[in-house]
Amino acid sequence: MVMSTSIRDTESVSMSALSVFLFVPDNERRHAIAKALSGTQAHIGGELAAYPRIDDLAQISGADYDVIVVDLDPDPEAALDVVENVCAANAAVTVMIYAAHASSEMLVRCMRAGAREFLSEPLQPGAVAEALVRASVRREEVGRTKKTAGKLFVFAGAKGGCGVTTLATNFALSLAKEAGKVLLVDLDLHLGDAALSLGVASKFSAADALENTSRLDLDFLSAMLAKHQAGLSVLAGADAVSNVHPTKDAVGRLLQVAREGFDYVVVDAGAKPADLSETLFEAATAVYLVTQLGIPDLRNANRLIARYFSGPGARKLEVVLNRFQARSAEIDDAAITKALTQPAKWKVPNDFPAARKAQNSGVPIAMEPSPIARVMREMAWAASGQTGKPERKKKFGLFG
Ligand SMILES: Nc1ncnc2c1ncn2[C@@H]1O[C@H](COP(=O)(O)OP(=O)(O)OP(=O)(O)O)[C@@H](O)[C@H]1O
Ligand SMILES: [Mg+2]
Repeated sequence: MVMSTSIRDTESVSMSALSVFLFVPDNERRHAIAKALSGTQAHIGGELAAYPRIDDLAQISGADYDVIVVDLDPDPEAALDVVENVCAANAAVTVMIYAAHASSEMLVRCMRAGAREFLSEPLQPGAVAEALVRASVRREEVGRTKKTAGKLFVFAGAKGGCGVTTLATNFALSLAKEAGKVLLVDLDLHLGDAALSLGVASKFSAADALENTSRLDLDFLSAMLAKHQAGLSVLAGADAVSNVHPTKDAVGRLLQVAREGFDYVVVDAGAKPADLSETLFEAATAVYLVTQLGIPDLRNANRLIARYFSGPGARKLEVVLNRFQARSAEIDDAAITKALTQPAKWKVPNDFPAARKAQNSGVPIAMEPSPIARVMREMAWAASGQTGKPERKKKFGLFG
């Protein structure tokens, strides 16, 4: 008996290995199922020779198993408990019941608890293979619907020229190398130069996207993107001085579409996003407020923090002190913390040689070892949810 829908054409299904966990208390039966799985696209990621305790179960449900096989025969009620708990904790997993003798009433209860497949004894290799194909299909379908919006990281400056573009572009590059699909959006609509600083050329710009929001979907957006060789996609700023004054809805739509298609969207918001600030900051996963150590910068930073980050937005703020030089700082840490209402989360060293080399060569800072590249990599590492610090590459690494 099969508790799920018909088999799809196996060719169309991604057959990457399925990870299987076995709850089969009896040794002989466990070996039988392991044997039936060998030579299929599945591998056994774990097994227990007993029905699990509740805390073992939580751990197993939290792990990324695609299939869980539960032996019904030794203790059907205990097995049913396992099925119920596993299915409640993880809707993506396919639970397969393994049994030699099972009443139809018990099978219906298993199905109601969430089991999808029934493997009867003696095991038929064909039936096991078919059940695995259906589990693959399911994994793909659930994966597609489960896809959540990408994270949005907004870089804004306390003052013109404080380094927003340098940091946003190199952060985005580091993220693309470390973590996944990344899109950099240049929303410095007046004089954006993010694409230029990455050395990529683009026919289209954010202005084009914002002026065509009625047609804007992922296909339309993708056609407007340039690509850096390190894998970073870029929606450039306008080539000419742009006169676009987008509505909040237009910006919201652009970000929504971008986040549908990318794991991470990084925005260069420049130093004067003015009426866009609210929309951008509200939508952001994190806002990197870039400032230097001058009185005017700190004063602006203070005003921006008071306006946008003193309420619920406070938790998403990360202050970045750019061009930091510890020894020559005329303003001490206590004064900086007071102005910023919190210690700076990141300090990016002043590294004129690296900045000048990047400008002259067209090779972005994050592509070569340097103190700035190292901080960018640490920021990207943290933003992508990885704990600790990235390993320092020893000799031939791309970063310092
Ligand atoms: N940490 C740093 N060390 C040395 N130079 C830096 C650093 N960060 C940025 N720069 C340099 O400062 C200048 C301004 O940087 P950038 O263009 O990134 O600032 P911005 O805030 O985007 O400016 P704008 O307001 O014009 O958009 C550039 O020449 C850049 O190379
Ligand atoms: Mg800039």
